[in-house]
Amino acid sequence: MNFEERKNLLAGKKQSHILDFYDQLNDEEKHILLSQIDAIDWDFQQAFQNKDHPSSDTEIEEIDALHIQQIIAQRDTFQAIGLDAIREGKLCLLLLAGGQGTRLGFDKPKGCFNIGIHKRLYIFELLIAHTLEVVHAANAWIPIYIMTSNINYKDTVNFFEAHNYFGYRAEYVHFFVQELNPATDLDGKILLKSKYELALSPNGNGGWFSSMHKAGLLDTIFESNLEWINVFSVDNVLQRIADPVFLGATIASGKMSGAKVVRKAFPEEKVGVMCKENGKPHIIEYYEMNEEMLNKRLPDGSLAYGFGAILNYLFPIHRLKETLDQAMPLHVVKKKVPHIDKNGVLIIPDEPNAYKYETLALDLIHKMDDCLIFEVEREKEFAPVKNKEGVDSVDTARVLLEKNGYTL
Ligand code: UTP
Repeated sequence: MNFEERKNLLAGKKQSHILDFYDQLNDEEKHILLSQIDAIDWDFQQAFQNKDHPSSDTEIEEIDALHIQQIIAQRDTFQAIGLDAIREGKLCLLLLAGGQGTRLGFDKPKGCFNIGIHKRLYIFELLIAHTLEVVHAANAWIPIYIMTSNINYKDTVNFFEAHNYFGYRAEYVHFFVQELNPATDLDGKILLKSKYELALSPNGNGGWFSSMHKAGLLDTIFESNLEWINVFSVDNVLQRIADPVFLGATIASGKMSGAKVVRKAFPEEKVGVMCKENGKPHIIEYYEMNEEMLNKRLPDGSLAYGFGAILNYLFPIHRLKETLDQAMPLHVVKKKVPHIDKNGVLIIPDEPNAYKYETLALDLIHKMDDCLIFEVEREKEFAPVKNKEGVDSVDTARVLLEKNGYTL
């Protein structure tokens, strides 16, 4: 595309303001701006148009889980199936580490946060230690893919290298970068971070499979023995990764995916819960549920929509492959985004001033035909580090780690 074509494209998309400062830029800055324009995925405009009109033709139903008691009763069988699969090289891991961790307010990748008190214990270190337990039990290495954003890629890779991969074999660890989407103002106009840069941010945690594809990682996966991918977030410091019991139970169930869940602590708890939407597994956000759904109970007294997803999923690779050409829906999220105004002056907002456009892992679950909902003990497997203080914070995670026998 030449300059005139780009100018016309932006005019057609009602985004001509992006070039307002173009005449003031040097050659390098012009090049940066033009390549960012070329990389824009314009799907965000559709998401902006639809944001106030969620589709209404959906039927939501409750979905049951494999309960803890049922898992305990078959634990040895599931574990043996899972360990065999790992030994046969069927499992790989995907660590979602591309988030910006704005709520925690830590200026490095979240995994570099030291959750220790008297001794050093980085979040990445803890996740690798959990994985190494399974590697030793199965006596087989498990490939780990780590998704970063371009913002935290270098810091993440350098951190692993500086710490010798925390005892993991470097050849089994692969990093890749997720894509970025532009942020817009509340009228849908793309914001500028500077006179020659768009305000870009990671495109959410649902686009990892297509990002792996774009990074050229999938061909070797498709040619390998790998059958399952365990996807998990960086910030649940108690979660069991590569859990052979979860893997074995999912394989034994014959279902197309697996999701670890915990029981909600109380009806209004702010977690997304598992359900069925039009017959497909789905996660409904707490703010999408009405009073009746929030409080609906089953005959045994438990909440009908009572299983909160903890972002730890199993997906079969062959099924994911079939979804590659299907677009992931973009969710529009209101956030605070620094930007320059029409005079080139930097604005640091105090209140949410912008929309970000994000894919979500839960939409990938919806593309699967069914899902094993696998209940885990909240106190043993759920300690998210989201906030600086209060709920789901460093302090609450430390208390839970200590309760589980960790020395901090
Ligand atoms: P969160 O939804 O908690 O987002 O991510 P975040 O960016 O880490 O934190 P806040 O909202 O700014 O405070 C859940 C998981 O998804 C990953 C995160 O790294 C975390 O493991 N994630 C999130 C990505 O990998 N990419 C993204 O674009 C967003």
